[in-house]
Amino acid sequence: MRYLFTNFCYPTEIHDVVKLFFNDVELSDNSSNAQFTLTEKANGNIFVYEATAEGKNNVQSVDVGEADELQATRLRKRYAKLAIYNVLTEFSGKKMPWGSLTGIRPTKLAEQLSREGLDWRQTFTGVLGVSEDKTSLVEDILRTQGDLRRYKTGCADLYVGIPFCVSRCSYCSFTSGEIDRLKKYIDPYVEALKHDICTTIAFVRENDIKINNVYFGGGTPTSLSAEHLDDIMSCIDFQPVEYTVEAGRPDTIDRDKADVLKKHGVQRISINPQTFNQSVLDVIGRKHTVSDIYDKYELAKSYGFIVNMDLIAGLPTETYDMFCHNVDSAVSLGADNITIHTLALKHGSALKEQNYSGASDVNKMVEYSRRKLYSAGYEPYYMYRQKYMADNLENVGYCKPGKQCLYNIGIMEEISNILACGANAISKKIISPENRIERSANAKDVITYIQRNDEYIGKKFCLFRGEK
Ligand SMILES: C[S@@+](CC[C@H](N)C(=O)[O-])C[C@H]1O[C@@H](n2cnc3c(N)ncnc32)[C@H](O)[C@@H]1O
Ligand code: SF4
Repeated sequence: MRYLFTNFCYPTEIHDVVKLFFNDVELSDNSSNAQFTLTEKANGNIFVYEATAEGKNNVQSVDVGEADELQATRLRKRYAKLAIYNVLTEFSGKKMPWGSLTGIRPTKLAEQLSREGLDWRQTFTGVLGVSEDKTSLVEDILRTQGDLRRYKTGCADLYVGIPFCVSRCSYCSFTSGEIDRLKKYIDPYVEALKHDICTTIAFVRENDIKINNVYFGGGTPTSLSAEHLDDIMSCIDFQPVEYTVEAGRPDTIDRDKADVLKKHGVQRISINPQTFNQSVLDVIGRKHTVSDIYDKYELAKSYGFIVNMDLIAGLPTETYDMFCHNVDSAVSLGADNITIHTLALKHGSALKEQNYSGASDVNKMVEYSRRKLYSAGYEPYYMYRQKYMADNLENVGYCKPGKQCLYNIGIMEEISNILACGANAISKKIISPENRIERSANAKDVITYIQRNDEYIGKKFCLFRGEK
């Protein structure tokens, strides 16, 4: 175990940078046993950061001048992280694709830098250490998003959470439960969810909020029966601009459910292979076959749905060639959206518990997917990063021109208000003009959600009314 000492008042930000390089580092309040240190010294408006790593050091300083408190904090974090990143780069001889950036949304940072009057590309590459390649990815995404990247006053999207799955995939840490084990809670959950949705729709009408997009996510929404889905969707008594159901697992989709989705005006669904290699599907516990993917894709297309496919780079036992086959297969099928995830080894997943150390060549896989998808005419249209991602990479959603999923852009770029219904769902309100997000989270587990449904609905409405 190695130790990091810092007197910076945001120590986790510094720890996150060190974890890009070394997994086995803990924060310590004792500088004498620390291999890595970051100290902040303040002199009026000037903040100086000195980082050390066993004999090497790096010094950065920033003048926060007339900046307000929020902006001053951003600048301090930026330069503190830079000092520790630079020293670790020198110490380890490694550079990270995203340089010193640990945040979830690089596109938002680009926009923020532009607002500060900076040339964001130059700041990314010249100051923050982001590679040219990743900088151009951000540029391409901003271009594809274009005017869609605009906050729409008086509007919100509606999220409906179905936290059930047919079985647990080994990489997944979502709090969804296996539907067979939770059978006795399904009926009460559906009732509580319907109450939540109907009350929320009544609330938006009373308050003149326009719902643009509706998104059913999970878990796997289509692990519910066609009857339950029909019952829930009957609460949504209007046609949204965009209506998406993350069907997800190919083994949960059939004609009866597709009929229900079509009847209720759903336009987009996901059919997620994760991989087109049967041996890997078996290893990750997906419990469906490769031919299920093809069959359900054909079924979805016969209903005229716009289809997204999720793939993951870095799954256990999957080689570079096998991964390329996955991307090629999704492209040959002609999926409208293809989302390339990089495996994140998250706490709570079976892979993490099994101490899976990750695949090699993940960077090469991600590069291949970008080349292949660009050459097949796809455009990257949203991106986010998470902790514990292989090679510190990113997840990127690609689309055929004009086929962007508006809900994904809204939530990932934090430009949409979200009214969320269901267990483990989080409502978000954007507070103008400072562009800050306030949240109201529903109970994570199904039982508490059912028992305290009205309490969570009340909190959500307080958030949207601007009350505490
Ligand atoms: C909210 S999950 C639900 C998808 C749906 N239940 C399914 O399995 O098809 C959305 C996507 O996140 C990705 N994902 C989940 N866990 C991940 C992990 N640990 N690392 C990388 N991607 C992950 C998968 O590609 C998954 O399809
Ligand atoms: S990846 Fe999807 S199906 Fe698998 S456990 Fe996670 S949410 Fe459920």
